[in-house]
Amino acid sequence: MILETHNSNLYFDGCDTIELAKEYGTPLFVMSETAIVDKCQELKKDFLSQYENTRVAYAAKAFLTTALCKILEREGFCIDVVSGGELYTCISAGFPSEKIEFNGNNKSEEEISMAIDYQVGRIIVDNPADYQVIQRIAREKQKKARILFRITPEIKIDTHAHISTGQKDSKFGVPLNDSIFYPLIQAAIESEYIEFLGFHFHLGSQIFDNQPYINATIKTLDLIEEVRKRYNYTIQELNVGGGFGIRYTEGDSPKPYSYFLEPVMKLIYEFFDSRDLKRPSVVIEPGRSFIGESGITLYTIGNIKEIPDVRTYVSVDGGMTDNIRPALYDAVYEGAIANKMNLERHKNVTICGKCCESGDILIKNLCVPNVERGDILTVFNTGAYCFSMSSNYNKNRLPAVVLTKEGKARLIVKRQSYQDLIERELV
Ligand code: LLP
Repeated sequence: MILETHNSNLYFDGCDTIELAKEYGTPLFVMSETAIVDKCQELKKDFLSQYENTRVAYAAKAFLTTALCKILEREGFCIDVVSGGELYTCISAGFPSEKIEFNGNNKSEEEISMAIDYQVGRIIVDNPADYQVIQRIAREKQKKARILFRITPEIKIDTHAHISTGQKDSKFGVPLNDSIFYPLIQAAIESEYIEFLGFHFHLGSQIFDNQPYINATIKTLDLIEEVRKRYNYTIQELNVGGGFGIRYTEGDSPKPYSYFLEPVMKLIYEFFDSRDLKRPSVVIEPGRSFIGESGITLYTIGNIKEIPDVRTYVSVDGGMTDNIRPALYDAVYEGAIANKMNLERHKNVTICGKCCESGDILIKNLCVPNVERGDILTVFNTGAYCFSMSSNYNKNRLPAVVLTKEGKARLIVKRQSYQDLIERELV
């Protein structure tokens, strides 16, 4: 059990959250190594050990630190990066470069050079212009880039528009128009500097239905067939992205990885087996579902303002600077007063942050016990896209991150200092 209550305090992975708040200060991200390793086991059980020649490339954008790279390396996972910064973080942590996969719709020449110099395992080509630069830089360096083409599968999903990526009108992926798609494939097959391994799609994020994955797989298999016909070339790898939804609130009903992947694998194997072809490697890129439930945030409650007959605003010492998701996507979180877990909850309040922005609301409606200044608020399931999307707005300092493991905690990211905030400034 990751969450428990002892003497009215919330414990997370065996650690007293009130002690953590005292020792490390707030706002504080607390990430559980126990939960992360459990997730690795789940992926091994439900996916990696079920099918040969499969990989998990964790989508680093959800949360990335050098300490996490170490855990991922130990567990044998790959990492999907989308910037020079994420790549640099992995390399600095000593993460094996051949286990890094590089995505992104507008990789800079510097980033592509880095990726080729470090010899990352895969570069996922996002569009024809991306291909041109990658192949030119590989030629200049006299190296061979191992690539997949990310396609736009033209599949709509039921999620927030900002996190939907597979629809036809998307900035991501190669459009499927014949006049764009096939010349690109032909060029890649013919290039001396490119090893064209296969296709990639990513539909979006926080998805609960497996049908879009099935539809996108069918579409990709049709393309594979057409490429075989036209060029007598069979791809060796398929990456079906991430996007698997998690439970933020009661209304979310997450499904096991097997629910998404079993039908996808069945389709892929049927296609290859029926043609007597070697089965391809299959890769997934989970971000949120891998890390989201492994983290919580702790805040200290400050001013409480009651507007009679309207609402009570309870302010915390962080906000949209450490969790922009409610402001950006109307994301809904659950929380609790971590030092009053055994008191009856009887009052609805609005949890707001400290930024100068009316949209800086973390939880619109939270039922709490008698709440006072100095109490500790915990917001659950903040492991994904919170720390990684945090900002210095209002020159707030980025929070610290601690990693817990069965009752022990250690600092893995220091809180920014005021000096850090002006470190790069020139008068
Ligand atoms: N692979 C690719 C190519 C992606 O673009 C993404 C996410 C993933 C994998 C991982 O998706 P996940 O398993 O985490 O759903 N900031 C937004 C989420 C943006 C996701 C962007 N791409 C949020 O906070 O909801």
